[in-house]
Amino acid sequence: MLQDRKARKLLLGHEEREKMRAAGSFNSQLMDFVREHIAAGITTEAIDKLVHVYTLDHGHIPATLGYLNYPKSCCISINEVICHGIPDRTVLRDGDIVNVDLTSIVNGWHGDQSETFIIGRATNEAVAVVQAAFDCMHMAIDAISPGCTVSVIGETIVAEAQRRGFSVVREYVGHGLGEVFHQPPNIPHFPDRRSKQQRLLPGMCFTIEPMINSGTRFTQPDKRDGWTVRTRDGNLSAQFEHTILMTEEGPEILTLTSKGPQKGHQFQQSN
Ligand code: MF3
Ligand code: CO
Ligand code: CO
Repeated sequence: MLQDRKARKLLLGHEEREKMRAAGSFNSQLMDFVREHIAAGITTEAIDKLVHVYTLDHGHIPATLGYLNYPKSCCISINEVICHGIPDRTVLRDGDIVNVDLTSIVNGWHGDQSETFIIGRATNEAVAVVQAAFDCMHMAIDAISPGCTVSVIGETIVAEAQRRGFSVVREYVGHGLGEVFHQPPNIPHFPDRRSKQQRLLPGMCFTIEPMINSGTRFTQPDKRDGWTVRTRDGNLSAQFEHTILMTEEGPEILTLTSKGPQKGHQFQQSN
């Protein structure tokens, strides 16, 4: 987690929950807009431009732009890039798996989500790692309940990823969010000591965003740009992310799309 300096309120009341619902709803609409344009032949900076303009046109703010000096309005991470890929002149190609991570600020509140898109016809391994990341995220969401420990998330994700022969990234984790982009609680996608003590209480908002690798879990941050994170062995990585509100009834996904893959979706080799 990239830790902001100040952490704000962690348990949201009715009105604050409504603000988070509005932020999640806009952010998911933005993801559906990206979905219409993402295809082989487009550059990642063209996608970034679309994200930037659409967000401003709707009166909102791209949260990543200028965040800790990050230079763009979204992150786009292709193939062996795990996360924080910076949009540039790279052209999407047939067979790529491409994570688009969108965060917007809507009237002061954050929505944060990502999807990995399969471009054209991908290998079996690429489809399998995308499917694993998607299923791990949904299994973790289904496993949590009010008052449960944060470690339920990591236990669920590591067990499923390992069952499929894949590994789980540890250096980058989910996070609380609200008026602040990154705040407590820390949401590791593997069980650690702290997550066994921390509980998910009604009113908490946080992300679940597992990064699943087809080879080693180990990461290699780019030394030149300071952002792009790759798998150390060059194998593939896939990720999905939702913003979740824990209610008294159970988890509520705030960033569900209208047109994207829903829980249970089976990704295909050819798109
Ligand atoms: N959206 C990412 C997350 O899920 C964070 C991106 S921060 C940036 O937490 F600076 F790299 F854009
Ligand atoms: Co996030
Ligand atoms: Co994100």
